[in-house]
Amino acid sequence: MKHSFKVDNEKLLVELDEDEKFEFGNKEILTQRFGDLTETKYWFDKGFSITKSSRFYDAEKLYSATQKAIKNIIYNLDPGLNLSEFSLENYHTFVSEELHSSVLKKTRRLFPENLDLDVHKILEEFSNYFGTNLTFLNPITGKQQWMIARINRAGSLDYNTAHKDVYEVFDKYNDIPRMVNVWIPLSGVNKLNSLPIVPKSHLLSEHLIKRTLAGSTMNGVPYSVASIKNWDGSATLSRVELNKDDVLIFSSHLIHGLAVNKSEDITRISFEFRLYEKS
Ligand SMILES: [Fe+2]
Repeated sequence: MKHSFKVDNEKLLVELDEDEKFEFGNKEILTQRFGDLTETKYWFDKGFSITKSSRFYDAEKLYSATQKAIKNIIYNLDPGLNLSEFSLENYHTFVSEELHSSVLKKTRRLFPENLDLDVHKILEEFSNYFGTNLTFLNPITGKQQWMIARINRAGSLDYNTAHKDVYEVFDKYNDIPRMVNVWIPLSGVNKLNSLPIVPKSHLLSEHLIKRTLAGSTMNGVPYSVASIKNWDGSATLSRVELNKDDVLIFSSHLIHGLAVNKSEDITRISFEFRLYEKS
């Protein structure tokens, strides 16, 4: 079934799976039931903050480290390719559809040690910012949470559903850890192109949110996250306005997704991770 969202007043039609059940949840606000790591911040009511990245990490170093990591991945998959002119921005001109799928298998889950960067220092800075010790380890699943380089090629369908990150663990364990999302723009990010979010959606009761369970299909592609169809009678998201030296920090209870790359000639790459409060 075709479903229509709006991203900054622009219509976005996606194909949702006919067989998946979209249902409203219980009359409860999950941030109230489980708490929210971001509730101590002044921006908690809107659910997100755009702030200068320099207090957390060196944006240029992170860019070079990610470029090096992705270039190495491509080289290892196809050593014959001439990558001397490779950059994150022109990624789409170097990879075929097949090579891109192979790259994604590696970049969806990047461990900190894959990057030539002091990731533990970044962790420490975020811990200071939130005034509590943070970790990549999900305390409920016991799994080390990976960092994800999201690659959205120019003019592609490389984007996922409207979702909340907390649903994956909630649907499986009926529990939600205190966690936060960090979204870092690396290449090709501008107001027309950045991550769409729904401000304040982390404060909505579940009985107003129509969604599948975690593990959903959109445009024929399976995703691990739940797919949300509408919330409080709306299906409108807004893109955040981010500069290269900004970082987006948002509640893991916030609805986000459908990050279509509208650029015709630049690959958008963002780097994202979830941090958990140490229990
Ligand atoms: Fe997400």
